Amino acid sequence: MTDTDERVKHFLTTQDWSVDELTGLLELADQLKADPLNDSLRGKSVALLFLNPSMRTRTSFQVGAQQMGAIAVVLAPGQDAWGVEFAPGVVMDGDAEEHIAEVAGVLSRYVDLIGLRAFPKFRDWSHDRTDSVIKALAQHSTVPVINMETIVHPCQELALMQTLRGRFGDIAGRKMVLTWTWHPRPLNTAVANSALLIGTRFGADVTLLCPSEEYLLDPQFMDAAKANAEASGGSLQVSHDIESAYDGAEIVYAKSWGALPYYGHPEEEWRLRQHNKHFIVDEAKMALTNNGVFSHCLPLRRNVKATDGVMDADYCLALDEAENRLHVQKALMMTLAGAK
Ligand code: CP
Repeated sequence: MTDTDERVKHFLTTQDWSVDELTGLLELADQLKADPLNDSLRGKSVALLFLNPSMRTRTSFQVGAQQMGAIAVVLAPGQDAWGVEFAPGVVMDGDAEEHIAEVAGVLSRYVDLIGLRAFPKFRDWSHDRTDSVIKALAQHSTVPVINMETIVHPCQELALMQTLRGRFGDIAGRKMVLTWTWHPRPLNTAVANSALLIGTRFGADVTLLCPSEEYLLDPQFMDAAKANAEASGGSLQVSHDIESAYDGAEIVYAKSWGALPYYGHPEEEWRLRQHNKHFIVDEAKMALTNNGVFSHCLPLRRNVKATDGVMDADYCLALDEAENRLHVQKALMMTLAGAK
């Protein structure tokens, strides 16, 4: 939870939204998938601030806004817009030309919604784990803020859930494996944190499969997922054994992430990482599942994180999940803008 104006409903993490609210978003997303065009946001606007690269998030928000009559303004602070300082009380004699207090204040007067992508800096996890950048935006914004990926990726969670509901109806009681997968360098834990949160929230029996204890996710997400599972009737287990984790799974969700004890020290992390190329998702592992589906948030390096055979299989839902980003974000924009 964040210390923001409680009169403004933000979308910073799905944990701030009830299961009923999330289900409402997913039902609206299904309606928008069937009937994509409407005028519900005519005259409205959304500012999309990207501190990091994006293909899917940027395109789906822009197209989604346009399909409902709104305009989207894309800004890359530090590149095509002034660099922004997010910390309070700083003597701003570095690179940033303006403070988030003014950026949020000005944008709140121009637009109806503000989205932000701000990956962690990969220097100090004790700082990055507080998600202070998007919280600073929400604190100073008088319009709803949408998390487009920080240390969680809640829009991706919604898209994953729309995809799984489309395939299974209900994921309660189904075995879902969140598997760490191989990648040549340490990546953000956001999508892994998010998959853990949303799977347990909707009652799946989630197994977190990772090479060793060093790859466990931050306790704030492990604990939240355990609490989610208790509330939903699902479960959360940790495994380092590939065969037993895949055995009987109906959902395999893959992501690579960095080992938090070595955060900011990629050379040291490599000493651990280099021994785990066999975590790649391949056809042999998928054959252990119970006719399981596979998905990934994308982008994905083929034959590094998952084989061509997995990516091209009928059971791969990665493109459906990417498409569903469009529908869930439209539902989110309509809801936050009070247009439903
Ligand atoms: N999955 C996802 O957020 O993709 P982009 O990084 O391309 O936006």
